[in-house]
Amino acid sequence: MHDVSAARPLRSAPPTQPLSGRLRVAGDKSISHRALMFGALAVGTTSIEGLLEGEDVLRTAAAMRLLGATVDRLGDGSWRVSGRGVGGLTEPADVLDMGNSGTAARLICGLLAGHPIFAVMTGDASLRRRPMKRVTDPLSATGARFFTREGGRLPLAVQGARDALPLDYRLPVASAQVKSACLLAGLCARGTTRVIEDEATRDHSENMLRHFGATVHVGIEGHGRVIELIGQPELVAAPVVVPGDPSSAAFLAVAALLVPGSHIIIENVGLNPLRAGIFTSLTDMGADIALTNQRIEGGEPVGDLVVKATQLQGADIPASRAPSMIDEYPILAVAAAAARGTTRMRGLAELRVKESDRLEGTAAMLRAAGASVEIEGDDLLVHGGTVPGGGVVTTNMDHRIAMSGLVLGLVAEAGMAVDDAGFIETSFPGFAALVNRVAGCQAILPLA
Ligand code: S3P
Repeated sequence: MHDVSAARPLRSAPPTQPLSGRLRVAGDKSISHRALMFGALAVGTTSIEGLLEGEDVLRTAAAMRLLGATVDRLGDGSWRVSGRGVGGLTEPADVLDMGNSGTAARLICGLLAGHPIFAVMTGDASLRRRPMKRVTDPLSATGARFFTREGGRLPLAVQGARDALPLDYRLPVASAQVKSACLLAGLCARGTTRVIEDEATRDHSENMLRHFGATVHVGIEGHGRVIELIGQPELVAAPVVVPGDPSSAAFLAVAALLVPGSHIIIENVGLNPLRAGIFTSLTDMGADIALTNQRIEGGEPVGDLVVKATQLQGADIPASRAPSMIDEYPILAVAAAAARGTTRMRGLAELRVKESDRLEGTAAMLRAAGASVEIEGDDLLVHGGTVPGGGVVTTNMDHRIAMSGLVLGLVAEAGMAVDDAGFIETSFPGFAALVNRVAGCQAILPLA
């Protein structure tokens, strides 16, 4: 786990030349977590290629080992998981430490709820501040018993259900993590688990459940969906090829849009429509982004993004788009700061419970760069123009604020500094080196 007492400050400055060339970004974090978890529940050996080897996913790998699965790394991104079968996980001999990862913590709560075992879970200071009641409340209806700290925070202890009951649950917030936790618990339950979401959220769990042989029915209901999973399937090991993470690609795409003259091709990016809201929003702002080489791989749409520098215009980003770009608001705000006119991003309440309070953190980042920004209720307003820069971004243990701050420094006149870039390792190892490669210079450097 990255140690905050050994903070890694970095700075970035406008590169001396445009960004150019072909690149690939780190593997998709959401799909990587799920591949390890479903592999651990499947009968047989699942091969995974392109796994994200960031700290968050390595936490999930370690947890699956503690729960009895055999997890081996064969080489770069190439992993094998020999599973225990649905209901076959065993009691962990030690505390499950999920580090900085909300996805790992919440999905694994679902897994544990369905197994008659006792487990204790913790995480780093950021994760121990984040709400877990959103999963422990619905999961308790399976018969599992959760004991948490005040306010439903980690560390928690769980005694999973012996005969888990199927859930019938309408999500009170748009959250793929909560949906997935319910579905994972439903694997062990007899009967049909039903989850209703009023706004569709990323459906990687549903796709991967089918890929491993489960029966999942999805009905469309307005903007939302009704998902039904038939319990106690036999999951059968299936190969997973993890595409590049669209959330990680967004940082490079915005960097190329903002650095004049840039032209890059980001290959092999996951383009699940429930993840791709950032590219729609950037296109609304006038961005020159084209998709090529579109194909389906492992049940997920994948393609190459061709991005050319563009003078962006402010836009009104509707709240209904939030679930499909929930992690991309900090980097969209960077794009908005360099755009002409005002961008309003609506309905961002969920940003307050991410790795940090990302609504405040994003506004503070832009203010540190001298940009004009307001928070109005759950909306973020950014008045674009020239960004003076010269400030320091406080990351608050948040990898996406760190990467956004470094991209901001590429366009801010006096560059920017970031107090701790160490958390970038959770989702995008090699980020700074990759930016420097396409920039052809040391645009991101340690803060001397
Ligand atoms: C994720 C879902 C989102 C997202 C997170 C990954 C997932 O969280 O912010 O980075 O893999 O299911 P919520 O479901 O809480 O919105």
